[in-house]
Amino acid sequence: MAEGKQLLVTGGAGFIGSHLVRLLVKKYPDVQIWNLDALTYAGNLENLRDVENAPNLHFIKGDITDAAFLSDLFSRQSFDGIIHLAAESHVDRSITGPLAFVQTNVIGTVQLLEAARRQWADNLEGKRFYHVSTDEVYGSLGETGFFTEETAYDPRSPYSASKASSDHFVRAYFHTYGLPVIISNCSNNYGPFQFPEKLLPLMIHNIRQRKPLPVYGDGKYTRDWLWVIDHVEAIDTIYHKGVTGETYNIGGQNEWKNIDLVHLLCKTMDRLLDRPEGDSASLITFVKDRPGHDRRYAIDAEKLQRELGWTPKVQMAEGLEETARWYLDNEEWLHHVTSGEYQQYFQKQYGSRG
Ligand code: NAD
Ligand code: TYD
Repeated sequence: MAEGKQLLVTGGAGFIGSHLVRLLVKKYPDVQIWNLDALTYAGNLENLRDVENAPNLHFIKGDITDAAFLSDLFSRQSFDGIIHLAAESHVDRSITGPLAFVQTNVIGTVQLLEAARRQWADNLEGKRFYHVSTDEVYGSLGETGFFTEETAYDPRSPYSASKASSDHFVRAYFHTYGLPVIISNCSNNYGPFQFPEKLLPLMIHNIRQRKPLPVYGDGKYTRDWLWVIDHVEAIDTIYHKGVTGETYNIGGQNEWKNIDLVHLLCKTMDRLLDRPEGDSASLITFVKDRPGHDRRYAIDAEKLQRELGWTPKVQMAEGLEETARWYLDNEEWLHHVTSGEYQQYFQKQYGSRG
């Protein structure tokens, strides 16, 4: 990335965004990184404490659905590129409150596209709008097969429908206005700083507190897991080397049935907590299934590997242990994010078991 460039990252205080901001701030000291985040329940500046004083990092608190705010920001500051991650990201929340997902993921994305289109109207040279999306837009697979970049969209949860819609708008801005966009669709991420409503941090949190581990349905739902730093390295690669207008799938070639993954985590936690083997697994509780639960996701990331040379580096056993250790070592972080609104969410989602 050239010296003196201005790069806007949205959602940089969230899980994946904070890992991306950390990578960019360290790797490109001559690029100014503007982290725009509304700091919803999922956004936390503590995620960036180690780089908060970096001279090339600037935080802007703001909401991407607020057209007046974006217009003011874009009139004061020019951007050479935008990497857009800000979103409502949890499927279970989208089931209880879909409108927030339409608001941020659809309207917010279009507001951001508009702001970029207006600012770059006279000169698109060297500009790039990178939209970070999910494999969930492709729907659900049976026992075999993989999602490729050509797989037809078939979203089935309000979350995936809102992300699919935002992907369509991003492509529409490329075809209609020539906006230099690029999209990636990634599988399930795991690692430090993930909000403990998602499977792995939720299970780690509950194991530590000896609370039930709620496995939805028969537990045989399958996800392809990717170490979060592998994901942000892929984003960096695609941002710099990807072809405008293209889509790249990102995945870990690392499929796990939920119940098998929870068992592996239980074993890891027993070891780390010095508990007898089988102790954590005894907490596993099968609970009512998620409505519209997608059976299996699996990504074919061959295009990204072949064209841009990216491959995942971290194996599951290693990444899972590092994740578990991180949560055990960062009790204060966990305490901060699980106070307040989190308690109400848990009560609603899991009843008194949270
Ligand atoms: P996250 O929920 O941890 O973080 C989202 C961030 O966006 C938070 O910091 C939040 O404060 C911010 N935000 C939310 N609404 C906003 C608004 N209206 N204006 C400004 N900021 C707002 O999410 P994540 O897991 O880090 O996901 C980041 C992106 O990556 C999302 O677009 C998601 O769809 C995508 N993605 C996530 C995964 C995954 O496994 N987590 C996989 C593939 C793609
Ligand atoms: P999640 O982390 O919410 O990611 P996504 O739904 O985006 O894939 O869930 C991962 C898998 O784990 C999914 O199949 C749902 C399941 N799950 C449970 O079985 N129990 C839970 O408490 C949660 C949060 C998820």
